[in-house]
Amino acid sequence: MNIILKIQRYNPGTDERPYFQEYTLEVDPNERLLDALMSVKRYQDGSLGFRKSCAHGVCGSDAMRINGKDRLACKTLIKEVAEQDGATITVEPLRYMPVQRDLIVDQADFFAKYRSVNPFLINDAPVAEKERIQSQEERMRFDDTTNCILCAACYSACPIFAKQPAFIGPAAIVQAFRFLADTRDRGLADRLPALDRPAGVWSCENHFECTRCCPRSILITKRINQTKKMIEKLHAGEGEGS
Ligand code: SF4
Ligand code: SF4
Ligand code: FES
Repeated sequence: MNIILKIQRYNPGTDERPYFQEYTLEVDPNERLLDALMSVKRYQDGSLGFRKSCAHGVCGSDAMRINGKDRLACKTLIKEVAEQDGATITVEPLRYMPVQRDLIVDQADFFAKYRSVNPFLINDAPVAEKERIQSQEERMRFDDTTNCILCAACYSACPIFAKQPAFIGPAAIVQAFRFLADTRDRGLADRLPALDRPAGVWSCENHFECTRCCPRSILITKRINQTKKMIEKLHAGEGEGS
């Protein structure tokens, strides 16, 4: 089939503003959008900028907006998009991050917010035996959150950033929850400054856009609400680990 890729182009060094460029190409409908982008880059326009690495939904580098939805290009079948929206596919960079070139965005702010929640196990208590034991049930409470690939699709999908750019964002809260819900962790107090503030968890208004777009099917909104509850319990004097 023939498709038209309508791709947002922008080089901040030479262009006054972003613009769209169209590329017509023949594709196998079973190919992924990433295959089509690579074909454009190889055979039509080597100047097109986009990120990719694993090409199998693992590294999180090729999240972009495809017909207005935040998705991984390597996990998006052309036939899926074309069947729903027609043969012209619009491709734009993720929102709320400065464009470095074309579909490549500067993720510095996204990763600074991720680091602000101390995304690692915190526990200074001595280990009783050889290791800290955890049951399967305990692990399952946060298992989905360990699958986050930091693609930032949820960050771009969340409508809150339009009015609150300082919002810590869904991915950082997911990472905080991954450790807060871990029975071996004792880091709630260390993570509170980032989470318990207007631009922290309390900015989330339960729009569910993040949950809808997550390529790893993480229950993001539910995890955000559980994090809010943990903080509320702490304020109610029930304390960490209660
Ligand atoms: S929570 Fe999902 S959408 Fe958000 S960064 Fe992680 S994998 Fe990507
Ligand atoms: S649930 Fe919260 S974080 Fe997710 S899109 Fe809605 S407001 Fe944003
Ligand atoms: S290229 Fe690695 S997730 Fe798509």
